[in-house]
Formats: sequence, structure tokens, C-alpha cells
Amino acid sequence: MNNTLIAYFSRNGENFNVGNVEKGSGAILAEMIAELMHSEKYEICTIDGYPEELEECNRIARKEAEENARPELRNSVPDIHGITDLVLVYPNWWGDFPMAVYSFLDSIRTDGLNIYPVCTHEDNGLAMTERMLKQAYPNANVMKGIAIRGSIVQNDRNHTREILIKYLTGHNLI
Ligand SMILES: Cc1cc2nc3c(=O)[nH]c(=O)nc-3n(C[C@H](O)[C@H](O)[C@H](O)COP(=O)(O)O)c2cc1C
Repeated sequence: MNNTLIAYFSRNGENFNVGNVEKGSGAILAEMIAELMHSEKYEICTIDGYPEELEECNRIARKEAEENARPELRNSVPDIHGITDLVLVYPNWWGDFPMAVYSFLDSIRTDGLNIYPVCTHEDNGLAMTERMLKQAYPNANVMKGIAIRGSIVQNDRNHTREILIKYLTGHNLI
């Protein structure tokens, strides 16, 4: 669908319950969603990136969150003229988004945009993220999101695909 964009943040390397992954769970989800929806995807990544080592990544992520930072993005933000639906794929980082997701959302038009939150996590689900979206972008239409464990994404692609099909069908996105 060309009125839809899939934007995702995901990180390779060491993570909770999955060991060291070559491809982050969000990246896998974004690929599946792009294929199911025939939509373009945009990777939200920062110029500095994040370390593969979990402890070091935690340290940086916490510092950015404490500072409410807006780390600079590496890829130029896509033209969202004509885009009505944004499927936003991201990991739960301490109950919130990685700050880079805010960098992205701050730099696009969110007014009137339908946002579908697709969160990967390891225990806490969507946590505060839907609420944070509604607060930060009050003129966006934040839809009911879905939370999928990274360990399921990494270990059971068929089940993951089924979960996505159910979610996307439920929202008439496919
Ligand atoms: C900095 C950091 C903080 C995290 N905080 C949480 C958390 O509070 N709750 C949770 O369920 N998972 C948490 N996780 C786990 C990730 O949400 C989970 O591993 C997710 O699947 C990662 O997606 P990705 O592979 O696309 O980066 C955290 C991971 C990192 C790296």
C-alpha cells in the first residue's frame, strides 16, 4: 500500500533472552510487515548507533532517556506526503521508546496520521509507549498496538507471522 509507511528501530547484538542476534527482532518484524502490506520501510537509526554489548547499550540508552535526548538520525527522513498510516516498530526500552524514535516522530508530520504501534519486548509489553505517543503527538490517531516478545520473533517465525497477520487484518491493513 503506498499510503502506508513502516518505520522501525531495531538493534543487532546481545539482548535479553535471545543471546547475540545478527538481526534485531524489530528488523525481522518490519521485513515481514513490509512483505505482507507491500509497503516501503524506513529504518530509524542514529549516526552513532548503539553498542552490541548489552550493558554498554543500557548505559547509553538510560543516559539518553534521562536527558530526553533527540539523537541525530543517520538516514534522511522519508517524505510522508500522502502517507495516512504509519506502522511503527520499536523495542520497549525501560517502558518507553528508544529516544531515536522521538527524533523520527518529531521530524515528520504526525497530525492526522494513523499510528499503529508494534512493540517488541521481553516481559513488559507495550508498557507506557501507547500513552507516551498520545501525549507527545496529540493530533495523531494512535491505534491499539501489539506487543511481541523478541524471543518469539527470533525463535518462531511462523508463529510471529501469524500474530502479525491477525493484527494487520484486524486493522484492515491487509
Ligand atoms: C536498553 C534496553 C532496555 C530494555 N528495556 C526493556 C524493558 O524495560 N522491558 C522489556 O520487556 N524489555 C526490555 N528490553 C528488551 C527489548 O525490548 C527486547 O529485547 C526487544 O525484542 C529488542 O528488539 P530489537 O531486537 O528489535 O532491538 C530492553 C532492551 C534494551 C537493549
